[in-house]
Amino acid sequence: MPAHTDHPAIKALRDLFEQQRPSATTEQALKGLRDAFLGRKSGHITEQLKRIATFPPEERRDFGAQVNALKAQIEAALDGLHDTLQAGQKPAGAVDVTLASREIPIGRIHPLMRVRQQVEDIFARMGYEILEGPEVEDDFHNFEALNMPPDHPARDMQDTLYLAAPIVGGTWGAHRGRLPKAQVRAATLLRTHTSAMQIRYMKTFPPPIRIIVPGRVYRRDNLDLSHTPMFQQFEGLVVGPHVTLADLKGTFEAMLRELFGDVKVRLRPSFFPYTEPSAEVDITCQACAGAGCGTCKHSGWLEILGSGMVHPAVFEAVGYDPEQVTGFAFGLGIERVAMLKYGVDDIRLFYENDLRFLEQFPL
Ligand code: DAH
Repeated sequence: MPAHTDHPAIKALRDLFEQQRPSATTEQALKGLRDAFLGRKSGHITEQLKRIATFPPEERRDFGAQVNALKAQIEAALDGLHDTLQAGQKPAGAVDVTLASREIPIGRIHPLMRVRQQVEDIFARMGYEILEGPEVEDDFHNFEALNMPPDHPARDMQDTLYLAAPIVGGTWGAHRGRLPKAQVRAATLLRTHTSAMQIRYMKTFPPPIRIIVPGRVYRRDNLDLSHTPMFQQFEGLVVGPHVTLADLKGTFEAMLRELFGDVKVRLRPSFFPYTEPSAEVDITCQACAGAGCGTCKHSGWLEILGSGMVHPAVFEAVGYDPEQVTGFAFGLGIERVAMLKYGVDDIRLFYENDLRFLEQFPL
């Protein structure tokens, strides 16, 4: 009889039997089960058989058939259990307490979070304050105060996602350079780098400063092996009366050796509007240990971060006196560190949450 036509009382009884059946692991327990269901006086089935007479005549036949069918099934099951026990076997469905328990999968820390925690730990031990900043920024903090005025060519290096652009016809990108400065300055955007937080922090607190700022940043990039429109950075900023380029280099060496082990670190002259001088920092290629390979384009070196000495114009924008303080700043890509550290060649893997990828990282 199809189960869906079962009377509720019959279904409840069948469920109850299935539930109790695994407990019949001994002859004694089996007898208890038989009595509970088929006992002459008050067995569950017996009770239902007695009820048949109380049903209206047109339902009686159907209900009676259901009770008797279930009774036959239970009898057969109990007989089967009896045979199994006689044969000295374990009944199917019985609990085998000697079996190893089922494996419970344990989640693990995402590789990007792992790198973030490591970097935070390194800088916390060097006495840095760790803080986050807003992902929605304005033009002033993301560009202008970082020495990129509305018509500065360096803005073209950033492909910005604008949220509320005061556009007078055409697209923001096409008109950016020609818009009246007041309108450019009113723009709201997704920060293109964590450097915006340098400005927020310096505008709020006086020197000395030692901070790192982890967080998400956004750019209008298409997905490919090395680009995602959202990625994560660490911003670092150190400001004080006597901060020098030697402090910058020493700090990077300490950090990068902790992160990557015994690597060489080199500074390469570069350009950022908010630092002078600016440097890109390279470490020994992780793939070939400096010998030269495809990963490092046969140079033996891999670029790992952008940095420099804070530009005096940035200090002026936040009301610091460039005659009194100096500082260094840097930006480090978290995905990039994770890719080099773990030998991942496609940045998109970090954001697909494919367990086959994630399970390869240690617990
Ligand atoms: N903002 C740069 C980027 O997103 C990284 C950077 C370079 C940050 C130099 C800095 C710096 O603080 O001094 O690529």
